[in-house]
Amino acid sequence: MSQSDQPIRGFKQTAMIEARVNAVQAALRERAPNAEVALQELDHSAQEQWVPRNGARVVARAWTDPAFRQRLLADGRSAVLELGLTMPKHHRHLVVLENTPTIHNVICCSLCSCTAFTLIGLPPDWYKDFEYRARVVRESRTVLKEMGLDLSPAVEIRVWDTTADTRYMVLPMQPQETVGWPEEKLVNIVTRDSLIGVARL
Ligand SMILES: [Fe+2]
Repeated sequence: MSQSDQPIRGFKQTAMIEARVNAVQAALRERAPNAEVALQELDHSAQEQWVPRNGARVVARAWTDPAFRQRLLADGRSAVLELGLTMPKHHRHLVVLENTPTIHNVICCSLCSCTAFTLIGLPPDWYKDFEYRARVVRESRTVLKEMGLDLSPAVEIRVWDTTADTRYMVLPMQPQETVGWPEEKLVNIVTRDSLIGVARL
């Protein structure tokens, strides 16, 4: 295939996808008039409400409130609901994985792309990628290093494979220099990648 073919192929593919989307939308309008509204609401929730800042709030609270931290580690789902956050019914369990100087946790979904998305946000593209899903289980240390997290050999890496009803979130270690900061300020330093476990703070 010559290079000049590529834009045309790309155009054709885009046109095909658009045609399919139009066909699906037309079928939805005909058979389920409310479906489009429901889809718009879903999209709105995904963009506006299911954001990593939710997980960051949980972490900041855990860092500043030892009793909350205990409840969070014992029963993650109940603890995040306390903060007014939501989880779908089918996310029956939230297991919060506490990083320590000697244990580093990282999450994946080896089957597809499950996450605790109401807390972490929708999964990034690399999380859904077959490469990540397969390799983070087999060679986690190498994958983390490739993603910029070079852990000492003394640190044990634990990989957690999400299931339909059990979701995970990493509780990152609090950077020493931020001890004593107010909760509202701590929220700003917690990243999505640290909640997944492919970064430290
Ligand atoms: Fe999945």
